[in-house]
Formats: sequence, C-alpha cells, structure tokens
Amino acid sequence: MPAPLSHLRPTPLREFLFGSAYYPEHWDAATRAADPALFRAAVWNVVRLGEFAWNLLEPTEGHFNFDLFDETIARMGAAGIRTIFCTPTAAPPRWLTRDHPEVLRVDADGRRMEHGSRQHAGHYSPVFRDYSRRITRALAEHYRDNPHVIGWQTDNEFHCHFREDYSPAAVTAWCAWLRLRFADDIAALNRTWGTAFWAQTYSRFEDVGLPLRDRPAQPNPAHWLDYQRFLSAGATDFQRDQVRILREMQPRWFVTHNGCFAAIDYRGEFTRDLDFLGYDSYPFFSYDVRARAASHAFNLDHTRAYSGHFLMLEHQSGAGGQAGFYHDRPEPGELRRLAWASVARGADGLLLFRERSCRFGAEEYWDGVVDHDNVPRRRYREAAQLGAELARIGPLLLGSTVRVDIGIAGADFVAQHGHEPITHGLPSPKAMAETVHGVFHRAGYAVSVIHPSDTLAGLRLYIVPHLAIFDPAWVPALERFVNEGGTLVIGARTACRDLASNVVADTLPGVLRDLAGVTVEEYGRQNRPELRPLALRIEGEAADTPTTLWYEQLAPDSAAGTDVLARWTSRHLAGTPAITRRRVGRGQVIYVGTYLTAEFVTALLPLLARCDALPEPLSSVLGVEIVERVFPDGRRCHILINQNETSVRLPAPTGATREHLAERPLAPGEILELPANGVAITEG
Ligand code: GAL
Repeated sequence: MPAPLSHLRPTPLREFLFGSAYYPEHWDAATRAADPALFRAAVWNVVRLGEFAWNLLEPTEGHFNFDLFDETIARMGAAGIRTIFCTPTAAPPRWLTRDHPEVLRVDADGRRMEHGSRQHAGHYSPVFRDYSRRITRALAEHYRDNPHVIGWQTDNEFHCHFREDYSPAAVTAWCAWLRLRFADDIAALNRTWGTAFWAQTYSRFEDVGLPLRDRPAQPNPAHWLDYQRFLSAGATDFQRDQVRILREMQPRWFVTHNGCFAAIDYRGEFTRDLDFLGYDSYPFFSYDVRARAASHAFNLDHTRAYSGHFLMLEHQSGAGGQAGFYHDRPEPGELRRLAWASVARGADGLLLFRERSCRFGAEEYWDGVVDHDNVPRRRYREAAQLGAELARIGPLLLGSTVRVDIGIAGADFVAQHGHEPITHGLPSPKAMAETVHGVFHRAGYAVSVIHPSDTLAGLRLYIVPHLAIFDPAWVPALERFVNEGGTLVIGARTACRDLASNVVADTLPGVLRDLAGVTVEEYGRQNRPELRPLALRIEGEAADTPTTLWYEQLAPDSAAGTDVLARWTSRHLAGTPAITRRRVGRGQVIYVGTYLTAEFVTALLPLLARCDALPEPLSSVLGVEIVERVFPDGRRCHILINQNETSVRLPAPTGATREHLAERPLAPGEILELPANGVAITEG
C-alpha cells in the first residue's frame, strides 16, 4: 500500500534522477547520434520522451512505428541514461482528429478546438478514450521488457492551457456524473444547489447544462463548484485508463504526471492513482525579480502540500518565450540556484526543460540547455556542474523530509474553486496563502503550505487564511493540535460556506466557533479603505494598525475563556473586538477579524511573538533561504541558498560539521561566505 498523501511523504525513488525532456523527433540523425555523449558529459542519467510524438508512433490508424524511440532509448541506455516515456495523448495525430472531429474540445464560447496546437481533444469523448487506451497499450506492450524504460508520465500537463470542456461528449458525461453524485435524485440536486434561487429548479438531469459565466449573469456557485469537480473527475478517469494499462503491463514502472493546474484535485484520487506527483517549474513567469524566490518557494511548498515530495519533470533552464511573452534570461548561476531551491523544497529528481532550443514551432524561442546552433555555452556548463553536484549529493537527500515549523493552510481544491464564482473582489485562498507564506519566507522561517487534512505534527503555528469553504471533518485534528500546544490562527471569513458552496446557517465562524470561542457579530467589505479607514489597536502596541479588504466585529465567548488581543479604533466599530484569543489545552486559537495582507501579517508578528507562537527562524540573513532536511534516523542537513545579488557571510548552522558542495569539514561556528546565487549544503 502506498503511504497516504502527506507533505512528509518522500518519493520512493532510490536514485536521484537528473536530465532533461528530450525531443529526438526535432533533430537530424547526426545530432541524435552525438546527443548521448553530450548529455552524459553533463552527468544526466535520465531523459523524458514522447509526449508530443503520437504522429510518429502511430502514423496511420493502427500502424505503429517505434523505431526512432527504440533507437533513442537504446543509445541513451548504452550511455547510462534511462528513459521516462510519456503517453502521447496531449497531441493526437491529424488522422484522428480528421476522422473523429467529435473528440475535439469546445471552450466556454462554443469554439471547437482544432488540430494545430495541443490539448485539443477532450477527456470525456469515449472515442478519444479508446484511442488513448490503444496507444498506451501498444507502447506499454512494446516497452514492457525494455530495461532502460523506468517509468511513465501520463499525457502532459492536463488543463495547462484551459480546463473546461463544453463539447457534446462532455455534456453527456456531465449528466451521467450528476446522476451518480445525486443518486439519481433530481430533488437532491435542487436542494443541494439551492435552485429555488432565480427559478433554476430542474425536473430532469438531462436539462442541467454546464455552467457558463456572464450568460448573462453569474452562475449558481454550487453548480459551478460541481462542474470543477466534474472536470477533475474527467482528467482522473482519463488518466486512470492509462495507469491501469501501464501497471498491468509492467509493475516495476513508476507512473507520474506533470502538474499543477486548475480543476484537478491533486490531493485526491488523481494523485492516489500515481506513484508520486510530478511538477513543472518555471519561476521566470514571475517577472518581478525581487518576488521570484518567494513565489518559487511557495509553488514548491504548495505542490508538496498535495501529496509529498515530487519529481520535477520540467525545470526552467533558460528564458522561455511564446507568442506574447519572453522571460528574462537567467543570469549566470541562476539556473543552478533555482534547481537547488527546487531540490531543497521537495524535488526528489529534476529534469530540465529542454535539451536544446527547437528551431521551429510555437516554442522556437523557448530556451533549451543548448542553443539553436547546438553550441554548448554557459547554460550547458552550469547544467553540467549541477549534474555533477546532484550525482554526488542528490542521493544523500533522498528519504529525508522538509522541516516545517509554520504551516499555512492551502492546496484545497474545493476552497480554491469555490471562491471563483463569488470572489467579492477578494484574493483567492491560494493567493492569500501565498501572501502569508511570503511574509514568513522572507523572515527566514521554516514555513510551508499544509493541507488541513494532513498531519500537523511538529508545527508550532498553523494559519488558516480565509478558507471560506471549510470541511467540518478537519476540526477534530485542529482541536488536537491546539490541545497539544500549537497555535492556530484563523483569518476572517473562514468556515462561512459549506462543501456545496452555500452559506452556512450557523453563526460564524460556523464549525470553528466553539474552538475559537468567538462569534462574528457583523462583517463588511472594505472597498475604499482610504475613504473610510478602519484601524485596530493591538494590545501592547503604541500605534494603530490599518486594515484593508474586510472587517469583522467579534464577540468573544467569555465563558470559553476567550480574551481580546486587539480592538477596532475607527468609526462605528470603535472599541469592539477585532482579534481574540482562546487558550485551549496547552495551546491557543487566535481569531483575526480582518484579511491577512502582507502588511497586516508583518504587523502581527510582534503579537505572535508575545503569544509565544513563533519558532526561531532558520535564516537570519535577508535573502538567504535555509531549508532543513530531516532524515528518518534524526540526522539533519541544511541547504543554504543566497538569493541576493551580492555575496553574504553567515555562520554555518549550529552543529554542522561538513559542507558537501565544497567537500570540506566545517569548524564549529565557522563563517560561510556565499557569493550571489551561491549554495551551501551542510551536514550535522
Ligand atoms: C510546459 C509544457 C512543455 C512546454 C513548456 C514550455 O508547460 O509541459 O511542453 O510547453 O511548458 O512552454
């Protein structure tokens, strides 16, 4: 039985994989023949093949030709480079879409997708699913005994361009999905969705269409949320067809998929069907260089929150450019630094995207490790340095997990997608988790994203930032967490809606009311806070703290021992409670009646310190990220990454006796010098 999904779950990979996505179909014979030596010299031990090559693998219906890939896999294998093969279903061949246009997806505007880019076929088409199973079976049969093929990636980035499907096949599947969900009882659907509103009541499942925005007004939020669940189920079922075939054919293969995108519940069956999740990371989509390290760290932590450590199936290796954008080009040292940051926060293997820039197609300006002219330059040399380092140090890290002192609740499919149709102009749960994470990341804490159903063991502080939809099943573990000494911080608007996406009938904060020992007497949106500012005064502070976005006037339950840590000081709220604390067992619950913006969380830090809710930060040098990895036998190591553009000096972590990159012993309290983009890995 695979271990349950948890941020603490390492991948079962025994070897640290490093290499790239490789597209032999883009190169001539001489280039292909020279590639294994080129890759081996950069210490690659894996390539990923085939995800966009269905046209070559099955050039006409039912006629397969694997020659190019047989040759590539054999040559790579001879050079000690293994293969992850992909099911090629993200780009069906022309004969398929020509003969079966019914497989094509339709977007929300009713436009049918066409051949000529990718992701144009839909998961709900039984015809496409047949073809998907057929090519998967043919490939799996062909490679089942090939010793160089070690695992599979299903498809490629489900939902990366867009998620929805309004095709006739999707409409038919939706009706069947609803029947199952509501046990064939249309009255149950009407009750659950609240279709009494705006005369939406249905008498037959066949009449329930797919929800559309702005046609002319907004759809029912419950209808919308169930559509997102349906989309996730569609990708899951489509993938499951392939996973079953691969597993049945060769149990030694691992199966993974490269996420993470909208409308797939990566903490659900989709991931339980896999051996581990894969992730594609392109930090240069963050165009603000000052924010890049934090957004990179958040994305890695958010991915780890779904199911644990992951395989990085694509990692940015240069500037990315498509039709309307062109990233900054990573400067010398940045590729290596970002790769180490990815490894530090949970990548148990890493493949660069891609081997060489392609001279044609929609991504002809998307950098590979080697340039268009096939001259290996600084990015290749940097990748080779990384390859040599990972070959030595990567295996030492496998099996360890990332230390987390402060958890931010997130990675919840329902909370995130439930927010979409009814945002009130407020940031989403994911955006707020990123904001709060960013404050603690910048301050050097061991912070991560942790799903509310995951273990909270080892955490000092757990922050729930505005999960409006909140599963009552999560409450008992939160109770245990605070009873055992943890601090739980709950942000405004948490637990105000139920799992169907309806507002709860309970007084707020709903299922958290007893634990927090507080009720919300009044709440409101702050649309123009500069015109009607609302500030609060935190106990022990000499000045007011401004708030934005939202306010809540709280009523502490004095019988539960709840006290007031801050009061509003403005307008009609003046004097009323704004932040409360209830001590529970050895811990405490702090309820914050406003939004946890970056400015507000920064202002909250001294209060959290006075409440003894803050651990020691791991890093005390701005811009130096330190990640602690913990081994099952209690050993620890630290990965120190200088995200600054200047060099820094800092003491080696307490107890460190060795630095792995320079392969040298460390004296107690030794000062390390980290250049810009520098990395150190200490043990002990
Ligand atoms: C990923 C995708 C790759 C390639 C890359 C660069 O999203 O999986 O196929 O498109 O981005 O754009």
